[in-house]
Amino acid sequence: MRPSDTPLIDSGALRRRVAELAAEIGASYARYEEPPILLTVLKGAAFFAADLARAMARPVEMDFVRVQSYEGASSTGTVTFLHYPESALRGRHVLIVEDILDTGRTARAIVDWLQTQELASLRLCTLLDKPSRRLTPLHAEHVGFTIPNQFVIGYGLDYDERYRNLPAIHVLESGPDRDARDT
Ligand code: IMP
Ligand code: MG
Repeated sequence: MRPSDTPLIDSGALRRRVAELAAEIGASYARYEEPPILLTVLKGAAFFAADLARAMARPVEMDFVRVQSYEGASSTGTVTFLHYPESALRGRHVLIVEDILDTGRTARAIVDWLQTQELASLRLCTLLDKPSRRLTPLHAEHVGFTIPNQFVIGYGLDYDERYRNLPAIHVLESGPDRDARDT
């Protein structure tokens, strides 16, 4: 498997959209005194969140959550928490920062848990959305790009832990392994 020669979303388009999202998010939190907590879903969203946070004009706090989803034979998709946020979340404005919404199960499990935490508000931001794959209803207030049902890699997204460090988003194609930047 290998990255497509041409990126699906190049680094310039990523930079421009991240700046727009930062402005959009900044405007929606402008009415609150306290900075929002950007709750980043590890590992995939780490790259996006780092760029998003630096594009924001006003202060934000950073925290992280890590979950793992298992696809059972019954295909119910159980989600387990590997790392919980360290901040006291009660009474805070929390923005979940995700890399991609696919079936929606991962984000659903995080939202369900956060809804028990007495937050001041909860919103969801995702860089990528594959709505055709959704199995659970989920609304993201801030969406970077809506993409077709293709497996994508780069800018944090992996295939078996590889390709996260590609600067652009590529489609994963079949063929011999190589780095997209070799060509
Ligand atoms: P979910 O199906 O919405 O729960 O997505 C679960 C996780 O699968 C995401 O957070 C990603 O880590 C991963 N994932 C889904 N689609 C892709 C993709 O196209 N490329 C890389 N990872 C993906
Ligand atoms: Mg992954």
